[in-house]
Amino acid sequence: MKICVVLGTRPEMIKMSPVIRELRSRSIEHYVIHTGQHYSYEMDRVFFKDLELDDAKYNLNVGSGTHAKQTGSILVGIESALVGDRPDAVLVQGDTNTVLAGAIAAAKLGIDVGHVEAGLRSFDRHMPEEINRVMVDHISDILYPPTQRSKANLLAEGIPENRIVVTGNTIVDAVRQNLDISDRRSNVLSTFGLKAGGYILATSHRQENVEDGSRLKGLLRGLEIASEESGLPVLMPIHPRTRKNIERFAISLPDRIMLVEPVGYLDFLQLESKARLLITDSGGLQEEGCILNVPCVTMRDSTERPETVEVGANMLSGTHPDAIAEAARTMLSRTADWTPCLGGGDASKRIVDDLVQRYA
Ligand code: UD1
Ligand code: UDP
Repeated sequence: MKICVVLGTRPEMIKMSPVIRELRSRSIEHYVIHTGQHYSYEMDRVFFKDLELDDAKYNLNVGSGTHAKQTGSILVGIESALVGDRPDAVLVQGDTNTVLAGAIAAAKLGIDVGHVEAGLRSFDRHMPEEINRVMVDHISDILYPPTQRSKANLLAEGIPENRIVVTGNTIVDAVRQNLDISDRRSNVLSTFGLKAGGYILATSHRQENVEDGSRLKGLLRGLEIASEESGLPVLMPIHPRTRKNIERFAISLPDRIMLVEPVGYLDFLQLESKARLLITDSGGLQEEGCILNVPCVTMRDSTERPETVEVGANMLSGTHPDAIAEAARTMLSRTADWTPCLGGGDASKRIVDDLVQRYA
């Protein structure tokens, strides 16, 4: 049995790390293809270091580009990396261009595709990720949705039940595997002069939010109002896409927002777990807030993680500054006593158990 893991962006490195660890601990033959979609040190190498991942067997170094250029280059690169090795299955995780290209390349070579975090739907086709999710789910041979709800999305689209295994989300495994290590090793709060429970942690990088100057300005204004009203400073580790757009649109930053470079996973877990509130448009942060008992405001009109909203851990604010501030008020007044909804921390074990059953 031989498994190939394809990854290329920050969240894939984090969410695939428990699966890779599980394969490693059972001595199952496996290797990683890194597409190089993310490549800056703080978007890439730092995660291999923090998560103790072995180097990829192949690094395609595709870098950035338009959707077509990036997806096309990944597709070509993965095909040649797969042809010689012929694994039993290729695992992809999530909804990025890396995932789409990885799944297409493997499917066309007749290699089984396993989609980790299958079945998420925002029902908003303006998001490039939604297009990727739908396409990948429909060409995958094995689907690993995190929740019953994501399984129901797959069934509603006609995907046969015998291809679907509900596993929980591997982010729960990743948080559990790394939180204690983060508590012991990270000094990030003192580096940034923050007090536990005394700041808002913010991130934003969604294409539909940050490529539009007035929307990006509005998001930052929303963060500023939330900060003024709560008296809490905002720390914002900034995605390179967002930094470029702040410069492109010559947006001047409110004093209350501290922009810093993206940080590694151990530091970020520390920042999240000690924050009073998360304000974000990230998928992963909506989940981690729910897992870590830190309330979250999501600056979007829809989410593919509705479970987090239903249990009370997350609230959609849209992108108007006043609406962001109002949602922040609501979430700051909420008691963090919601029911866990993303799995029990054994998603990677379930995924590897299933692979063993199919291929060993
Ligand atoms: C991608 C995913 C998104 C995911 C996100 C995780 C797609 C369509 N989007 O978005 O779903 O939530 O990763 O962070 O696959 N850049 C750098 N250094 C890097 C990476 C990117 O400077 O290491 C800059 C480049 O200017 C690049 C821009 O960021 O053009 C966007 O990068 P890209 O990978 O295309 O999209 P993300 O916004 O990162
Ligand atoms: N993250 C990190 N450092 C940062 C910002 C985020 O380690 O400076 C982690 C975060 O803990 C989460 C993941 O990156 O697990 C989320 O990635 P991102 O928001 O880029 O992508 P998305 O989840 O929206 O696809």
